[in-house]
Amino acid sequence: MGDSDAVGPPLSRRRRATLAAGRGASLQPVNGRSAAARQSPVTVGAAGAGGASMVDSRGSEEALKSEKRSRRNDMGERLSGCHKTQESLLSSASGYNNYRGILNWCVVMLVLSNARLFLENLLRYGVLVDPIEVISLFLKDPHSWPAACLVIVSNVFILVALYTERQLSKSSFSEPVGFLVHCINMAVILTFPAAVILLVPSVTPVGGAFALGVYTILFLKLYSYKDVNMWCRELSSIKAKKLSRSMSCPTPQHFNRGDQLVCYPGNLTIRDMYYFVFAPTLCYELNFPRSPTIRIGFLLRRLSEMLFFTQMLVGLTQQWMIPVITSSMKPLEDMDLSRMTERLLRLAVPNHLLWLMFFYWFFHSSMNFSAELLCFGDREFYRDWWNSETVTYFWQNWNIPVHKWCLRHFYKPLLRRGFSKMISQSAVFFLSAFFHEYLVSVPLRMFRIWAFMGMMVQLPFAWFVGRFLRGNYGNAAVWMSIILGQPFAVLMYVHDYYVMQHSQEAN
Ligand SMILES: CC(C)(COP(=O)(O)OP(=O)(O)OC[C@H]1O[C@@H](n2cnc3c(N)ncnc32)[C@H](O)[C@@H]1OP(=O)(O)O)[C@@H](O)C(=O)NCCC(=O)NCCS
Repeated sequence: MGDSDAVGPPLSRRRRATLAAGRGASLQPVNGRSAAARQSPVTVGAAGAGGASMVDSRGSEEALKSEKRSRRNDMGERLSGCHKTQESLLSSASGYNNYRGILNWCVVMLVLSNARLFLENLLRYGVLVDPIEVISLFLKDPHSWPAACLVIVSNVFILVALYTERQLSKSSFSEPVGFLVHCINMAVILTFPAAVILLVPSVTPVGGAFALGVYTILFLKLYSYKDVNMWCRELSSIKAKKLSRSMSCPTPQHFNRGDQLVCYPGNLTIRDMYYFVFAPTLCYELNFPRSPTIRIGFLLRRLSEMLFFTQMLVGLTQQWMIPVITSSMKPLEDMDLSRMTERLLRLAVPNHLLWLMFFYWFFHSSMNFSAELLCFGDREFYRDWWNSETVTYFWQNWNIPVHKWCLRHFYKPLLRRGFSKMISQSAVFFLSAFFHEYLVSVPLRMFRIWAFMGMMVQLPFAWFVGRFLRGNYGNAAVWMSIILGQPFAVLMYVHDYYVMQHSQEAN
């Protein structure tokens, strides 16, 4: 600053300006204009240091002019209008749709409210998680493993289906005989495990449900296996008649180079059969699309998710679901409607959370794990069901393996036979309702129709939502049915099971 004293009157202005610059030096430039205003006196100071007073005075005039100009601009800016015709952001007419922040807020609120519930639960019940108890859900007696034995025995049915197809391909069995053997095989697949579960007391409800689940999947797979091989024979006979190229091999566009395409009856091998049995699909194909390699990182991520979510599912069921269910028995017995509704709403949150976790565990982690291990290329196990605005969209997108099976082996064949869309859809939902009821009632050894009704009610509900609700309202209706429908069915089954056990004990 000392050098500025040697300069005449204009310098007093410069000194003020330099001082201002010195004071402002510690401040960050707020915007372009203030930075420029601070910049000019410093430039003047630099010229003065060289002793050129003419340059110095010209510089300070420039600074003055630019200051005046910026002040004028500032005034103009202040006087210019600050309003224009526009909608508020939250009005639908504004066209604004970025609600990311709101979504984050929902997540924060959800975490906070659940943290409160979690603490309340811990304070009231203490720690209820008991991994040893999980084993007892599968086994009553450590020396008797009926559910595991049932799963092992299921290999017999797989081999019978393969044997029948081989005989059919060699024309050792006629089509009606082959069809009959398949029908008997599949009828036994459904009735044999059910009979074992109902008659052998050492089968637990969870073990029984697991074994029945395996048998149901096997039933659907073998049905598909039978159909596809029959279609191949039909196509071969058409080919034989027309002497054209075989159509029993699929078009090869989705296969990697070097993959050997299998043609009927080359597919009728044990290896091919067991690949299909373990592949995460219910629909058989002679040549499945294959992924080129096994990605170890991907595989380990899915495996760790599987282990994590298994622990979470078990822990949350023990700590959260069971206490709420137990405390719901009294209001259910007393038929106290308001308390029953309160318990239903209380159960809805953990039940829904568990269902979402189950979805991720099963449809994402487990299916991708087995697909990766088997290099199974088609990973579309679910689609965006969470955006469902209609019930139909939900059923088309939440469980793709079952939906594909229903379309390919049940719905479209019915349509082709001339049944109307309504009847065909009702038939599919009836079949699905039967399997839902079968998977619940048999392991519980208690025949109620809550699961059956739950599926059948989807048809009128789909009609209602499609007819009266649109967009977000439709989406909310689908969510409501998932969130409230399931705990309702769970409470009904648990109540009936509880009453049945008590009456048996009393007897
Ligand atoms: C019943 C169900 C199969 C109907 O499916 P959808 O997709 O609504 O059926 P659509 O009427 O739209 O037709 C589907 C297909 O049939 C075809 N189709 C329609 N009419 C046809 C006809 N007369 N002949 C042949 N094909 C026909 C359509 O072209 C369409 O083919 P695409 O899939 O190749 O595009 C489905 O709702 C469903 O899977 N429900 C049960 C789900 C379930 O129980 N899941 C259990 C999960 S735990």
